[in-house]
Amino acid sequence: MATYFDSQAALARMGALTRLRTATWDGFMTEILVLYYSRKGSTAELARHVCRGIEGVPGAAAKLRTVPPVVAESEGPAKLIPISGAPYATLEDLRQADGLVLGSPTRFGNMAAPLKYFLDCTASLWVSGALAGKPAGVFTSTQTIHGGQEATLLSMMLPLLHHGMYLVGLPYTERALNETSGGGTPYGASHVAGPMDESSLTDHEKSLAQALGRRVAALAVRLAA
Ligand SMILES: Cc1cc2nc3c(=O)[nH]c(=O)nc-3n(C[C@H](O)[C@H](O)[C@H](O)COP(=O)(O)O)c2cc1C
Repeated sequence: MATYFDSQAALARMGALTRLRTATWDGFMTEILVLYYSRKGSTAELARHVCRGIEGVPGAAAKLRTVPPVVAESEGPAKLIPISGAPYATLEDLRQADGLVLGSPTRFGNMAAPLKYFLDCTASLWVSGALAGKPAGVFTSTQTIHGGQEATLLSMMLPLLHHGMYLVGLPYTERALNETSGGGTPYGASHVAGPMDESSLTDHEKSLAQALGRRVAALAVRLAA
């Protein structure tokens, strides 16, 4: 059965949404896909810091993509192009990427349905082993500090393991991981947004999101060498 993301891939194949590897005067870049869902903006902010970390690695480039919301049939299909912000991801974006950093708000200790739905549409990539051997990392945002960040991060790793990806975490050699009193875990980057989603990222949370991007990108560059 053709999915929404297959139709996006068809558009991509026609050259409307994507291109082949990123070429610069210095040669080809190792491309890291930063793929996230965010409704209130916290996970999107983390994603931008992950991109900063990636862009700091020589030879690496970040590609920021999101996924459409999951809507009931009665509400009508999601629009093909978002009104603002990052473009929607295609399966082709995943196939082309040399690494992946995946972000979702925590929903009852799990990833949000729109991201899960996107991943559930990646069976064709699994069959061909397109993601096997590529590095990946994960990040999340919660309202509360004990609201299930680690559970969400671990749940996001499961499909990536099935795809054969190499998981990258955050070691305690990152000083911010020892010092943070908010988000940041060995399993991935995170943010505690507060009961009204009112808190912006702390310096430690920003630093750890950047470190995650840097670590995934550095490994991808080494694997591509
Ligand atoms: C259906 C639903 C379930 C949620 N479950 C949790 C949860 O288990 N723990 C928690 O701390 N926050 C939970 N939240 C809050 C979001 O994780 C939090 O607001 C997050 O920062 C939103 O990220 P965003 O700004 O990227 O949308 C939930 C929110 C919704 C809508």
